[in-house]
Amino acid sequence: MFNQIDLDQIDLNAEPPVNEPLRQYYYMAKLKKLVKERSEALGHPLSCCIKTFGCQMNARDSEKLRGILEIAGYKLSDSEESDLVLYNTCTVRENANQKVYGHLGYLSSLKKKNPGMVIALCGCMMQEPEVVDKIQKSYRFVDLVFGTHNIYKFAELLVTSLESHRMVVDLWKDTDKIVEDLPSERTYSFKSGVNIMFGCNNFCSYCIVPYVRGRERSRKPEDIIKEIEALVKDGVVEVMLLGQNVNSYGKNLDEPVTFAQLLQMVEKIDGLERIRFMTSHPKDLSDELIEVMKHSKKICRHLHLPLQSGSTAILKKMNRKYTKEQYLALAEKLRREMPDLAITTDIIVGFPGETEEDFQETLDVVSKVKYDSAFTFIYSKRTGTPAAVMENQVPDDVVKDRFNRLLALVQDVSKEMSLRVQGQTLPVLVESINEQDPDLVTGRLGNNLLVHFPGGSELIGKIIDVYLKECKGFYYLGELEEHK
Ligand code: 5AD
Ligand code: SF4
Repeated sequence: MFNQIDLDQIDLNAEPPVNEPLRQYYYMAKLKKLVKERSEALGHPLSCCIKTFGCQMNARDSEKLRGILEIAGYKLSDSEESDLVLYNTCTVRENANQKVYGHLGYLSSLKKKNPGMVIALCGCMMQEPEVVDKIQKSYRFVDLVFGTHNIYKFAELLVTSLESHRMVVDLWKDTDKIVEDLPSERTYSFKSGVNIMFGCNNFCSYCIVPYVRGRERSRKPEDIIKEIEALVKDGVVEVMLLGQNVNSYGKNLDEPVTFAQLLQMVEKIDGLERIRFMTSHPKDLSDELIEVMKHSKKICRHLHLPLQSGSTAILKKMNRKYTKEQYLALAEKLRREMPDLAITTDIIVGFPGETEEDFQETLDVVSKVKYDSAFTFIYSKRTGTPAAVMENQVPDDVVKDRFNRLLALVQDVSKEMSLRVQGQTLPVLVESINEQDPDLVTGRLGNNLLVHFPGGSELIGKIIDVYLKECKGFYYLGELEEHK
């Protein structure tokens, strides 16, 4: 395991090892030496800032990148006025890309004031060749560009960048490699994301993820369990198992394991209190999983089940491989088996060819399933995906109008669902001091609803029973049981 490695014992005069993760330990040691020399020359510690765009996968990747920088001796900072700034980018929708270009202008002005500053870009957006062309042509001040498949090589790439005066670009189209045993710097001491698989094989026709994250690869169950056991030893009580499509976990392992079996193994870990996972594709959600969830003491009563559209015709064009009726039947089964389950979803409005009737089908599913909450998105054309060249792209004003109607319904329904637990006393994992009121703390119910209640920082990371006094739409005001 990484915590048994002493970087200062690594011989930097020797050739770098060929095998991973030993090669990266060598480069971490080398980076540490370079950082020390630079900070001595400057007379202050080198600072670094990682900004993360996008999903939970990226958030977890950033923890790993931060872990490497921390070991190398960088001082972590939230400010982009740092000696190293790394953007971990997202490209799932066009506005995510625009945000990054906007920020880059600002970074260029900072670099003029601090010429030694290193600007690095990684993540999904960098897996798009047009983006990298544009950066190489118009954003020459960027020092390092890498993608989603080689983040484990960050120490090596950064050393190469610090030792050269040109832009270093390292991008892989795909990989079958999973490198274990690298450090990570967690955002929360008491909860953590854990990757169980990488990539996606589904090729939903609107989605760029399979092109930028590559084919599905599952981690071995023993590696996952080992990582969670180490996290629990380090104070973690809640894990979120992460994958683009967790329900197809383990299918391509040498010794296949189902996701439900993996959950049962994770459940056995002593000291772990809560298990979450995301994302579930409706087409692969098995009865075995429902059974395991139903009988589990640790799996949270929350399922994120992206609908995308309620129209069978649109679902077909989206290549989702289920019909409206199949989705409704699945949701009904879930509600029947676990009445206290929270179901959340993702919905896209304005997919090419979506008619008012198709849209009405989406509204119908929302009314019937009664989502506890839903992320609603306006369809965004992603070059290279099949949907980008489909006919009948929906005009902006029509999409906007549908989006607003959907949002109004989603809000009504989720308010109604949130009310379900009013007056109950339920366990809450306390996450932070409340941002608006320092006399309150903020925590999360198993069903993912937020609860604010009077308390202090000593409660952070603890799971405690809270009386849910008043529902405020999408969150609760509560009281500690003893003050009731
Ligand atoms: N346009 C709009 N939303 C998209 N998503 C994925 N691709 C697109 C796109 N091209 C949404 C889906 C997915 C979520 C993570 O992002 O709803 O579930
Ligand atoms: Fe994209 Fe579909 Fe894969 Fe989700 S399942 S990442 S929407 S291709």
